[in-house]
Amino acid sequence: MRRHVAMRPKRQKRMAETCGIILAGGAGTRLHPMTAVVSKQLQPVYDKPMIYYPLSTLMLAGIRDILIISTPHDVPHFQRLLGDGSRLGISITYAVQDAPRGIAEAFIIGREFIGTRRVCLILGDNLFYGKLDFLRKALASDAPAIVFGYRVQDPERYGVAEVDATGKVISIEEKPAHPKSNLAIPGLYVYGPDVCDIAANLQPSARGEVEITDVHKVYLEQGRLHLIELGRGLAWLDTGTPESLIEAGTFIHAIEKRQGMKIACLEEVALRQGFIDTEAYGSVVAALPRSDYRRYCESLLGGL
Ligand code: G1P
Repeated sequence: MRRHVAMRPKRQKRMAETCGIILAGGAGTRLHPMTAVVSKQLQPVYDKPMIYYPLSTLMLAGIRDILIISTPHDVPHFQRLLGDGSRLGISITYAVQDAPRGIAEAFIIGREFIGTRRVCLILGDNLFYGKLDFLRKALASDAPAIVFGYRVQDPERYGVAEVDATGKVISIEEKPAHPKSNLAIPGLYVYGPDVCDIAANLQPSARGEVEITDVHKVYLEQGRLHLIELGRGLAWLDTGTPESLIEAGTFIHAIEKRQGMKIACLEEVALRQGFIDTEAYGSVVAALPRSDYRRYCESLLGGL
């Protein structure tokens, strides 16, 4: 563990310029009535609120400055859950999206937060499980815009990319009725700071939203869009419907039970990433309510 912790700072220096945004807005209509009171990204995925998973993804990629964007109703809930992030050795700030005006609005709302930095956007309902080297590599690169591609059975539910034999993107479409490929684009993206100007200049689509796919079309026209295809060894899970939500929970449960390790335990991630030291970890864990979650955190102390 010591060695692990000591190895991290080098990489963090390079990534100090990269910030993260979690977009946790939307009405969660497809999960009604579960979302009538509690937002989608606070629903449980087995033993943790959904947002723990995308937050842990950013943290595992070395990102420590994070903006959470949500509805006026839900921001206070996220604040109560996660606070300012200091107990995890990170900084979390909050901003409001007062109406569902599209994913790309994150860059209009987050403009000041982003400043001159590179930014990684993750949607609050996107779960990744597996080696995150692909994301660390993307953050360390200077490519102007990076999207990922993941082969799925039902691409019509997502943004879909068409690539040529060399992996270059030819076209990109949002929820096409007749997808040109089965390469879906997950809700995880990396951009340079000019994404804010691109988003600000977009016209809203027919449904009144500034679409993330339109941001990508601008980069594509400029020849600046990069796509990294994710291998099948990585799990990208969907949580948009009651069925996919319980499937994601079952998946997390199966792996946690088999390995005796938790996925997306934020305190553990903070410790392993070297964001907090063992002493700070001990006090954070001591403040947790008595629960299986706390017992798990405590069990890690023995192995340090
Ligand atoms: C959004 C994006 C879509 C992307 C998907 C990933 O769709 O518009 O391009 O593939 O997230 O989860 P939504 O989930 O808002 O329908």
